[in-house]
Amino acid sequence: MIVPVGEHDLDQVGDLEDQLFGEQAWSAQAFAELSAGPGRRAWVARTEDGTVLGYVLTGHVGDFAELLRIGVRAGAQRRGTATALLATAVDAAAADGAERMLLEVSTGNDSARALYARSGFEQIDRRPRYYADGSDALVLQLQLQPAAHRSERMAP
Ligand SMILES: CC(C)(COP(=O)(O)OP(=O)(O)OC[C@H]1O[C@@H](n2cnc3c(N)ncnc32)[C@H](O)[C@@H]1OP(=O)(O)O)[C@@H](O)C(=O)NCCC(=O)NCCS
Repeated sequence: MIVPVGEHDLDQVGDLEDQLFGEQAWSAQAFAELSAGPGRRAWVARTEDGTVLGYVLTGHVGDFAELLRIGVRAGAQRRGTATALLATAVDAAAADGAERMLLEVSTGNDSARALYARSGFEQIDRRPRYYADGSDALVLQLQLQPAAHRSERMAP
């Protein structure tokens, strides 16, 4: 079940940040502040018993949305959770009027790069030695379809 992040999810999101991002992890409080900022939207994938399997955070500025974070619990990966979270964020950004979604990913992050490629993102820029480990950042973009056009296209 994918739902907007709630206050009761934040401790688990903070734990997942530690697990997935190590020294670059955001605390539960930092995540709460970031997700409450203007234009920000965040969702979690949650089981019926309240376990958070993954989360996504986006920001919307002007005509574009930015994917700021996505993560899935180590024991729950490769089951389509990130794909579903990303689709939720993409649909919401289009409904909010964004024309494209942008993100940055390290050249060394093969799983995320594969996820984004499968979700239709294309490289538009490269930032050499952008990350602390010396890896480059790839800037990826997904052109969004206006919500109205998508529902027209999906009509029988
Ligand atoms: C990247 C990440 C979010 C993917 O989550 P996920 O729920 O496992 O992704 P999905 O199950 O939706 O995978 C979708 C596709 O992405 C690709 N993919 C995902 N994980 C992969 C891996 N470890 N190796 C290769 N390809 C991978 C595959 O093409 C996969 O489709 P398939 O399983 O049918 O082959 C997860 O690995 C993660 O949390 N990584 C650490 C945090 C991170 O790097 N976040 C991104 C930067 S902000």
